[in-house]
Amino acid sequence: MSNQPSPTPTRGLHVITWGCQMNVYDSARMSDVLRPLGYGPVERPEDADMIILNTCHIRERAAEKVFSELGRLRKIREARQEDGKQTLIAVAGCVAQAEGKELLARAPFVDLVLGPQTYHRLPEMVAKIARAGGSVIDTDFPTETKFDFLPQEAAPQTAGNLTAFLTIQEGCDKFCSFCVVPYTRGAEISRPVPSVVAEAERLVASGVKEITLLGQNVNAYHGDWNGHTTSLPELAARLSEIPGLQRLRYVTSHPRDMEQALIDAHRDNPIFMPYLHLPVQSGSDKILKAMNRGHTADEYREIIKRLRDARPDIALTSDFIVGHPGETDDDFEATMQLVRDIKFASAYSFKYSQRPGTPAAGQPFQVAEDVKEQRLQKLQSLLREQQDSFNASLVGTTQDILVTGTGRKTGQLNGRSPYLQPVHFEGDPSLIGQIVKVHITTRLTNSLSGVLASEEVKAV
Ligand code: 5AD
Ligand code: SF4
Repeated sequence: MSNQPSPTPTRGLHVITWGCQMNVYDSARMSDVLRPLGYGPVERPEDADMIILNTCHIRERAAEKVFSELGRLRKIREARQEDGKQTLIAVAGCVAQAEGKELLARAPFVDLVLGPQTYHRLPEMVAKIARAGGSVIDTDFPTETKFDFLPQEAAPQTAGNLTAFLTIQEGCDKFCSFCVVPYTRGAEISRPVPSVVAEAERLVASGVKEITLLGQNVNAYHGDWNGHTTSLPELAARLSEIPGLQRLRYVTSHPRDMEQALIDAHRDNPIFMPYLHLPVQSGSDKILKAMNRGHTADEYREIIKRLRDARPDIALTSDFIVGHPGETDDDFEATMQLVRDIKFASAYSFKYSQRPGTPAAGQPFQVAEDVKEQRLQKLQSLLREQQDSFNASLVGTTQDILVTGTGRKTGQLNGRSPYLQPVHFEGDPSLIGQIVKVHITTRLTNSLSGVLASEEVKAV
């Protein structure tokens, strides 16, 4: 772990990030480990001495997408070569993990292939290529954890540097029938509390006010704290002692790990935002069983009820898959009913996609593509209606908005509501970084607009 100040960048680094927030976090960390080698960010791949493609394997045509992007990057590399410039091309993330060897066989011009657990070794890999040429592939699940090897000096993650992601848990042991994550990210591990706290303190010292804790099963967090196994609400209690940290979120959670202590913390610890992403995937017990989710639709409803009892204004979001093998019209209707019962603030929904090597891929009764498509349209239109009415329900209310930056129009500020909605309003740029009261006046397609409620600003 290095605390040395980084050199002024002498080499351009361009990182392309696909997929989940964890990949966004990983991309920032890859930039961190390369900074001591003189790599600094450049906007255009044409200006980059190294290009990293951080990939996602979760749904269809992942590898094809990677090959088509690599074709584009190869042309850039060739054009730079004509100008006498070298370009390293790296493929990172879950496609690299799952299909590393095939990737190098089909795209031999790729210099580096690395999985999500080995990017702390990037400097070694780059040095090896400089020494010996050729390609390097590292898709181990090493015994050491990358978190112990990442530099302390972190790059700003977001514009304004007021909100940040922080990975606290990684991997998954749940083995849902459809999902590649347990194979690409490996077994579940939790980062020790002191390491999380140290990173959170550094983020806050650099101006961050809102942290989103990341993990594939973030609510299964069980990090060590001097020999004591610590749960997510206990970690949050520790993080809320950091002066200046205003808001905490966490994503993604599994219903099975939604312990009462965590639900209670939504009532008792004001640092938790009234917002929870809790994927349910389906509303049919038969499909939930086939998916190996480990709970029924009613058990999910019961968790939501307890959450709403604890925090009545909590906004709920979810993930859905339509067309899992064996899903009938009745099963799909059970999903629609669950959505009608719960009323989500927003949600992601996907057509089931067969992932090689996962149990569901080999099951009989695959659902026809056009049926999946029709179900997806129906579900998405219901979810869109619910999202609209959730946003509409905020019109006329006053909300605490974290001011994150200036808007596109002059005099306009952008901010983030407790429910994760973007909010625009007029105000002075000196408010950036503060939490202000905004009276919400209008609902736009994907955001809200309003007016500053008063000059009364929450002390930060
Ligand atoms: N097909 C469709 N959607 C999937 N997801 C994960 N695997 C698949 C798959 N094979 C969705 C789930 C998960 C989200 C991150 O991606 O809904 O919660
Ligand atoms: Fe995938 Fe299921 Fe693990 Fe989520 S809980 S990462 S969907 S296997």
